[in-house]
Amino acid sequence: MAVVFLVWASLAPLALGARVAVSGFASESRGPKPGHRIAIVGAGPAGVHMASRLRQMGHTETTLLERSDRVGGKSLTIYLNEHGEECEQQMDASGKVDTASCVAHEMGTCFLHNGYHSIRELVDEYNLTHVVPPEGRAMFSHFSTDRFHSQDMDEFVTSSIMDGVRSGTIYAPSWAIGSKLKVMVALLRAVKKYNTLHKEIFGEVEFSMPHRLSRETLQRINMTFLEFLQSNDLYALSGFLMFAHAAQGYGYVTTIPAFYGLWWITPELLNGYMQMSFREELEKFYDPKSEFFQQIRGTWVRAVVTAIVGGAADVVKRTTTMLPEGYQKIWTTIAEKDGLDVRYGVEILDQGIDRQLDDPSAPVRIKYRQKGKNEVIEEEYDFLIYSAPHAHAKNFVKDVAIQEESIFSSLKSFVLATTLYSSEPVLDYTDSARRPIMYEADKMSGPSHDGSWYADRWDDLIFGQPITGRQTRVGYQFYENYCQGGDMMCNSDRTPNEGGAMESSERALRQFRGELERQNVSGVNTLRQYPWPYFHHFPQEAVQEGKVWDLLEMQGQRKTWWIGASACFESVHDVTNYNLMILRKYMGAKIIQGIAMG
Ligand SMILES: Cc1cc2nc3c(=O)[nH]c(=O)nc-3n(C[C@H](O)[C@H](O)[C@H](O)COP(=O)(O)OP(=O)(O)OC[C@H]3O[C@@H](n4cnc5c(N)ncnc54)[C@H](O)[C@@H]3O)c2cc1C
Ligand SMILES: *[C@@H]1O[C@H](CO)[C@@H](O)[C@H](O)[C@H]1NC(C)=O
Ligand SMILES: *[C@@H]1O[C@H](CO)[C@@H](O)[C@H](O)[C@H]1NC(C)=O
Ligand SMILES: *[C@@H]1O[C@H](CO)[C@@H](O)[C@H](O)[C@H]1NC(C)=O
Repeated sequence: MAVVFLVWASLAPLALGARVAVSGFASESRGPKPGHRIAIVGAGPAGVHMASRLRQMGHTETTLLERSDRVGGKSLTIYLNEHGEECEQQMDASGKVDTASCVAHEMGTCFLHNGYHSIRELVDEYNLTHVVPPEGRAMFSHFSTDRFHSQDMDEFVTSSIMDGVRSGTIYAPSWAIGSKLKVMVALLRAVKKYNTLHKEIFGEVEFSMPHRLSRETLQRINMTFLEFLQSNDLYALSGFLMFAHAAQGYGYVTTIPAFYGLWWITPELLNGYMQMSFREELEKFYDPKSEFFQQIRGTWVRAVVTAIVGGAADVVKRTTTMLPEGYQKIWTTIAEKDGLDVRYGVEILDQGIDRQLDDPSAPVRIKYRQKGKNEVIEEEYDFLIYSAPHAHAKNFVKDVAIQEESIFSSLKSFVLATTLYSSEPVLDYTDSARRPIMYEADKMSGPSHDGSWYADRWDDLIFGQPITGRQTRVGYQFYENYCQGGDMMCNSDRTPNEGGAMESSERALRQFRGELERQNVSGVNTLRQYPWPYFHHFPQEAVQEGKVWDLLEMQGQRKTWWIGASACFESVHDVTNYNLMILRKYMGAKIIQGIAMG
């Protein structure tokens, strides 16, 4: 009933003639029907979240087929105690989880940004905690005095903007005296302009994925993200976004389609970054009578300033946070509390999924083996939900249709590698500023630095008691061109962590060690390395052809939903929002605070 009501309500403004179409649409159902047996391939964030929401809607016959020996996919946490040994977090006497003596090291998903409503809601729903990490991000770049002394992030942004002011690419009005004021004015103007453009291009975005863009709008962004920033006179943001975008492994601004830059850098996220980086600066300038405020006031400035000085309830929520119990814990907790049926070590046979498409009422047949066992298991389901990388679906699904293949075959990906390692103390972490996160901006400027070490995070400083001796950190490398040299990274149908052994590419490991050596980091001991296949996305041409939306509109045909990062964008925020979006679109679910109701 609710299904019909919801669809009806959303179409109510249309003429009465729509009634037939409405009931037809609802009874046709583009998702699993009551009592259907559902198979979900992949128990990463997308698969686990989907199983859990379907259960809330009354679908309990769901089985997750997972290749590895754990749930969580690219949310992978390694817990280490002060001796560097693996540990399990325990409850202390007061019933709280002791996260300080057994520290979560994130090898995959790590942050909750200010716009992450769907994830925050899950954290609340499952009673987990999140904390604001200590502020402070150290930057190395060509603006640093030398290779061994970092700047704060705001100093880096200031240097890059002042560079532009001097060379004339960035405008700063004559009343803005002094570099701090020039930088603030230039940045705030650019942010305001960016946010306006974003709204013009993407409109209101409800579930993180924009509505289908018109041909004209697509043409307007038929360029790289950097070209978009430059052609819209947003130079003041380019230095900052160069690393804010690439640091997440979402590609270099010099090569990635503007579409993906706009998808990730939402006005909400940008405002949050600005607050995070320039809190003190903004506070200084907060004086409604000042010339500065008069010049740049507008809704954005008001919102930011209110958030900073107003102490409103959502100030804390608007900052980047992390999970002291580990990101993976969200998905293991959901799987456990919801009693999800997960099969581990699943190896689906070659073309082992047969949807029997010639008969709409015939079941989906799946043949697989479980690791270490010889017997082939053959099961029947009524509906298939596929969350593993779509680019490889044709290896497992026998009857991939031409329409499906025309979308999946254009998907490209990158590699984002994380390395857990220990070393002698590094000055920029241990000095009085105690900055837990470090970036090297120039390494994120374009493909010529492919595979370089570009960032580091010290989780002990964030979650635990920073130990004075050796430091254990997580380092990052990004590869746009990962398929050179023909090593294992070239196979993008990999799931690191199978069996739990260190899976590392010789090339990535060699490059990592070399970089640290050049930075004079001594006593390096690499413990684990995960070269993740990462950021499944469409190249420019396929974006222009509208493939992202073609997939959305194809959902539910051929007894299948295609979900996960390949369907939208590589983030837990996006994959969960995508799930909620199709649950509403194709099953009429009502979504209240992230909970799905049928
Ligand atoms: C280093 C790093 C940092 C990140 N930081 C953030 C962050 O701060 N914020 C954020 O939002 N996101 C972050 N992400 C991205 C986020 O983790 C992913 O977008 C998210 O995990 C995608 O979920 P998914 O379920 O679509 O895919 P995955 O997490 O990749 O899960 C897919 C699952 O399918 C399984 N599988 C694959 N093939 C098969 C098969 N053939 N048969 C059966 N099972 C199969 C895999 O084993 C895996 O469990 C980060 C990722 C990495 C690697
Ligand atoms: C979270 O805590 C609340 C209050 O203690 C409880 O009612 C609820 O069942 C818990 N949720 C889960 C998923 O455990
Ligand atoms: C996008 O730009 C490229 C050149 O950069 C051009 O060849 C292509 O036709 C453009 N696509 C559309 C849809 O305008
Ligand atoms: C880095 O190492 C080189 C060679 O050992 C040495 O000459 C140089 O002084 C070191 N620099 C710093 C800042 O430690």
